[in-house]
Amino acid sequence: MPMSNTHTDQASGLRRLLQPRPVQVVAVASGKGGVGKTNVSVNLSVALSAAARDVMLLDADLGLANVDVLLGLQPRFNLSHLIDGSRSLDDIVLSGPAGLNIVPGSSGIARMANLNSMEHAGVIRAFSELSYDLDVLVVDVAAGLAESVTSFARACQEVIVVVCDEPASITDAYALIKVLSRDFGVSRLHVLSNMVQNPQEGRILYHKLAKVCERFLDVALLFMGSVPFDIHLRKAVQHQSAVVEAFPSSPSAQAFKKLAIAAQKWPVPKGTRGNLEFFVERLIGNGNGPGEYLI
Ligand SMILES: Nc1ncnc2c1ncn2[C@@H]1O[C@H](COP(=O)(O)OP(=O)(O)OP(=O)(O)O)[C@@H](O)[C@H]1O
Ligand SMILES: [Mg+2]
Repeated sequence: MPMSNTHTDQASGLRRLLQPRPVQVVAVASGKGGVGKTNVSVNLSVALSAAARDVMLLDADLGLANVDVLLGLQPRFNLSHLIDGSRSLDDIVLSGPAGLNIVPGSSGIARMANLNSMEHAGVIRAFSELSYDLDVLVVDVAAGLAESVTSFARACQEVIVVVCDEPASITDAYALIKVLSRDFGVSRLHVLSNMVQNPQEGRILYHKLAKVCERFLDVALLFMGSVPFDIHLRKAVQHQSAVVEAFPSSPSAQAFKKLAIAAQKWPVPKGTRGNLEFFVERLIGNGNGPGEYLI
């Protein structure tokens, strides 16, 4: 390593030690598949990056990752290389729109969707050694209630549940919230209504979900906002770009920018909760609930 790089590394390492920067770790989940998690993760991350935040997007849909496809990136390496030990996290991180850092997942490797605890531990260790100064880490998780979904979601400080106007989206979102709150100690979640026809529909969706949760669960559900159904977003997907970049004044892009402003007002984590160690500790179940992952 050249001398100047060594110095930069040492300086940034020292700065982190002396002044740990609070990192907000946000999961984007849904229960039901296909409701827009990846589009929400990508556009929210790009909008936050554009607002001068240092953001990393982790594609944690371990078996069917597609953040890279959505953004037209061609990663040489991905999480599967991290897991087989051939690459470091630094080697696999890509640079995306507005300076967003992207950790690509792997697609079509069935094994990735069923990682064992040792392999999860590899991902966790890699994050604890992360040499990036971050404000926000956004985690795009898989659909369903698989172990990887609950592990990642419980490890995050904030969980966004994406819903759309379909009965199965609401019932599956409820199932996810129930598992996360009852079994994994998640006490607060944000609801984002996607593909809505108008803002009122978004609120109605939230209230439907909040009503059942209030009745049966001990959890705080907060309404984050809505993203309209937008043909520009579909076009952006076809062009493999984020709608906030491709069509910045489109209705969905405007909505994502508003959501990014809202997310920046979320309380800044303090203490251990303010570091990536929090993410790591929670992932390994450090005395808080089921500790499946031992490292
Ligand atoms: N606001 C929107 N307006 C129009 N189309 C949308 C919107 N949000 C998402 N879509 C479309 O819905 C489809 C699914 O989106 P996306 O891949 O983001 O969902 P997902 O929840 O990540 O899916 P999966 O569960 O498979 O990971 C995409 O084809 C996308 O174009
Ligand atoms: Mg997805």
